[in-house]
Order: sequence, then structure tokens, then C-alpha cells
Amino acid sequence: MTQLVLPSDANALGTAFGGRIMQWIDVAAAVASRRHAGGVAVTASIDSVHFDQPVHLGDIVVLRASVNRAWRSSMEVGVRVESESDGGQRRHAVRAYLTFVAIDAQGRPRAVPTLVPETEAEQRRFAEAELRRVARLSARRPRGPVAG
Ligand SMILES: CC(C)(COP(=O)(O)OP(=O)(O)OC[C@H]1O[C@@H](n2cnc3c(N)ncnc32)[C@H](O)[C@@H]1OP(=O)(O)O)[C@@H](O)C(=O)NCCC(=O)NCCS
Repeated sequence: MTQLVLPSDANALGTAFGGRIMQWIDVAAAVASRRHAGGVAVTASIDSVHFDQPVHLGDIVVLRASVNRAWRSSMEVGVRVESESDGGQRRHAVRAYLTFVAIDAQGRPRAVPTLVPETEAEQRRFAEAELRRVARLSARRPRGPVAG
């Protein structure tokens, strides 16, 4: 996915708002997970958003999303964000991991196809995704009324 950083995306310092970049990340990841699931998938959690380098007003932002692993109904999507300035040079800016859950027409989780990693990089991401899943699910809140 490609975006141009417009004045409405930037703060007074001329760098992109983190929230706007997160919005783009969420959309790129939604597209990747929806393609894998073959239908609608919702954001269940976003973790590990790292703003490693600033993105500047006027930059072209390139987002690349990949489904790293699929479980029963959930999928981990990794997104890498690069920014390109006028010289055409691209540099890494932001990285994030998100979990999407495929849902049916009633909003209930539904099963997704398994993902078979092929390349060495895909296999590494596939293995690492399982470790991240354990950590993120241990931080999950049980559903139900919030204690007052
Ligand atoms: C995500 C959602 C569909 C999960 O529904 P649920 O009834 O709690 O589902 P379950 O407990 O049966 O879990 C279903 C799957 O979601 C995963 N999951 C649920 N909450 C999660 C979380 N916070 N982080 C990561 N994965 C999560 C479970 O691990 C499970 O994965 P699996 O099927 O691959 O094993 C539900 O919480 C929801 O609709 N949330 C709101 C989503 C939304 O509106 N997002 C937009 C931003 S507000």
C-alpha cells in the first residue's frame, strides 16, 4: 500500500502523526488478512509498534503486510513501513505486529485456511509468530463485565 504524507497527516514539526501511520498499518494488515481468510477479519490486537525513524511531510510511504501465521480463526500480520523522500531513497521507518480474527455474518470467529510457509524468511516468521502469540494471549483480558 502506498501513501503520500499530506499536511493533514503531519504535526507542527513536519513529521507524520504516529496515529495516522497506525491507521495505514491497520488497513494494510486488514487487506492481507482478508485475502488469506477469504472474507472479513477484524483487528483483535495490535502489539509491538515501533517507530524506529520519523516519516516526513511530503514523503511517500510504502507499507508491506504479510500474514505470518494462521491458527484456527486468528492470523498474525506483520507490517513493515518504509518512507521514500524526493531522492527516491527508501528507508525503514516503522514495524508492527497485529492479530486479525476472521468473523462470520454474526460476528463470531470462523476458521481460516492454514498457512504453509515456503521460503526461509517465511519459516522464520512462522516460528517467531507462535512465541509472540503465547505472549499476547497471556495479556488478553477475559470477556465479561468490568469490575468497578
Ligand atoms: C476479536 C473477537 C472476534 C474475538 O472474539 P471472541 O469471542 O473473544 O473469540 P474467542 O475467544 O473464541 O477467540 C477467537 C480467536 O481470537 C483470538 N483472540 C481473541 N482475542 C485476542 C486478542 N486480544 N489478541 C490476539 N488474539 C485474540 C483467540 O486466540 C482465538 O484465536 P484462534 O481461533 O486462532 O485460536 C472479538 O473480541 C471482537 O469482536 N472484538 C472486537 C473487534 C473489533 O471491533 N476490532 C476493531 C477495532 S475496535
